[in-house]
Amino acid sequence: MESTKHGAAAGDAKPPVSGNWTIDQEWESYSAEEHAVWKTLYERQSKLLPGRACDEFVQGMRDLAMDGDRIPDFRRLSEVLEKRTGWSVVAVPGLVPDEVFFDHLANRRFPAGQFIRRPDQLDYLEEPDVFHDVFGHVPMLVHPVFADYMEAYGKGGLRARSLGVLAHLARVYWYTVEFGLIGSGDGLRIYGSGIASSYTETIFALEDPSPNRIRFDLERVMRTLYRIDDFQETYFVIESFDELLALAEIDFGPIYRRVAALPELEPGTIDPGDGLLHRGTGIYHAGRRRVA
Ligand SMILES: [Fe+2]
Repeated sequence: MESTKHGAAAGDAKPPVSGNWTIDQEWESYSAEEHAVWKTLYERQSKLLPGRACDEFVQGMRDLAMDGDRIPDFRRLSEVLEKRTGWSVVAVPGLVPDEVFFDHLANRRFPAGQFIRRPDQLDYLEEPDVFHDVFGHVPMLVHPVFADYMEAYGKGGLRARSLGVLAHLARVYWYTVEFGLIGSGDGLRIYGSGIASSYTETIFALEDPSPNRIRFDLERVMRTLYRIDDFQETYFVIESFDELLALAEIDFGPIYRRVAALPELEPGTIDPGDGLLHRGTGIYHAGRRRVA
């Protein structure tokens, strides 16, 4: 089975306790130390993001009334979301199988990791925790257009899985929902949760000369490999959230067939057809490869 970071079950995943892998958040059971990790991460990011994240993201944070004092209670988040866009947040133990993940999205449930990283993992962990999932993803679910896009992605995921083309669709998720940038009158802004929940990648994605920044193009993105263990070498930039939602109107069937016949592109490659906004120096990743 194809696997993708956002949906694949981890090798050591706990067995499901319910058919759709949801568990009780057990909010009352978080320790003072766990709330303190949230506070550290929250305060750092909430200072950094205004003027760097898109206005919709910052507004979503405000509307959800998240604060730095405690890990949010998913019941409270869901009350706000259900009124605004019909979404809810459900707790899962960690990564869940693709079909479970997509089924949640298709039904406007966002599966969020229940656990929080340890204090020595503030800047990196591979499996999404409650800070990545809630702080990174949930603010955009307040936005009606983005909320519709996420539902459409879940439906598209179920179809792509049945067609055996999940790797191509997963790249779209990766380069939009996780690592997307959007143009604004004041320059580029972040909407991707993988960036918005990372202090170091927030700076890198927007301000570092190393990565490429390229206009989003569906087929181009479907062909592009990505890095799961480091900053991205290329970020794709949309012009509006309507542009994303318009993807839901397209029949991906012929696109999957076309893309399957084309070569895959390495993460840092620039293609002649690219809408290049910034040609990256590549210095960051070149240095990393030499070290390795
Ligand atoms: Fe994520």
